[in-house]
Amino acid sequence: KDTIHVGLLGLGTVGTGVIEILHNNKESIKHKTGCEVKVTKALVHDLNKSRDLPGDKVELTDSYEDITNDEDIDVIVEVMGGIDHTLDVLLGAIENKKHIVSANKDLVAEHGEELFDAAVRNQTDLYYEASVAGGIPIIRSIVDGLSSDNIRKMMGIVNGTTNYILTKMSQDGSDFDDVLKEAQDLGFAEADPTADVDGLDAARKMTILSILGFSMPTRLDDVKLKGIRGMSTADIAYADKLGYTIKLIGIAEHDEEGIALSVEPSLLPKSHPLSSVNDEYNAVYVYGDAVGETMFYGPGAGKGPTATAVVSDLIAVVKNIQLGTNGNNYVHPQHERKLKTQAD
Ligand code: NDP
Ligand code: HSE
Repeated sequence: KDTIHVGLLGLGTVGTGVIEILHNNKESIKHKTGCEVKVTKALVHDLNKSRDLPGDKVELTDSYEDITNDEDIDVIVEVMGGIDHTLDVLLGAIENKKHIVSANKDLVAEHGEELFDAAVRNQTDLYYEASVAGGIPIIRSIVDGLSSDNIRKMMGIVNGTTNYILTKMSQDGSDFDDVLKEAQDLGFAEADPTADVDGLDAARKMTILSILGFSMPTRLDDVKLKGIRGMSTADIAYADKLGYTIKLIGIAEHDEEGIALSVEPSLLPKSHPLSSVNDEYNAVYVYGDAVGETMFYGPGAGKGPTATAVVSDLIAVVKNIQLGTNGNNYVHPQHERKLKTQAD
């Protein structure tokens, strides 16, 4: 094909970033894929909102069917968020043979299996690199780069908003609510920021990492969860005095007994490398039997990093279309779900 047509579901922080990257990197993307990649339509809530978008005109619609039923659209990029309605929209799109790229961890963590099944049945692509750790290609790394190894543990900081809040509270003594507002203004926080603050967003990401890294059909409620609500600058200053930094740490472990997952604020000695992961940055350690310890670090939220992951997925899908190799998705979880008993 000379041109691949893309429908965007959502044109907020991430959707706008997708349009910008496709515009700014148009020539290099053409070299990499052998074709033009064009967003032709975008779904929004508010058709009257003013939007500053570079490049060719994008037709805006408030009806998702304008996109999912459009025969000219090859790939759907879902960057609107939401769970139940979005699941129905994407399942319908997959039945219409659309390839999907999504940044939606809420959806993948809670309904990944239905989406994987539909994509396998329809031989369509389903990629979601941006759903975990923003601009860090962690999903590709555990699914492809480390596929020969047995991954035993994944641990780190996977939520940018809470890391930004904890960093600013620690460095400037800022007030929790003020920094949360800043994180929202910077486009890091979820539409409902309680998902960030209460650790749910990090738990969703650890669930996805466990499904893929351990090939284990993990559920969100397998994660023992505590967020950072109620954390005060005094708590952080006290930890600092004792030589510690407070970080929201996700841990997923796998051994013969099964898996154990947690997300909770943790005291780290200042000498620990995760102590110096600041602002919206994320970092994930992955431990495998043969590889030993690996660490992935980078921006975990925001327009540019997240859109980079989304557009990289899109390029992978476009290459598959050009080669006729679609449907080569990340494998289904192979193991039976087995949980380790966790101490409270
Ligand atoms: P925004 O709130 O900035 O944008 C959401 C967009 O979707 C808006 O354009 C909105 O329309 C549109 N939209 C939402 N629901 C509907 C609906 N039911 N019908 C029509 N349009 C709708 O969100 P983000 O761009 O920040 O996030 C998008 C997704 O990416 C989410 O799943 C999020 O979890 C994920 N993500 C975000 C990251 C980030 O750093 N922001 C990082 C990684 C993942 P309108 O413009 O009219 O309001
Ligand atoms: N709200 C999320 C975060 C966005 O702060 O990490 C990136 O997934």
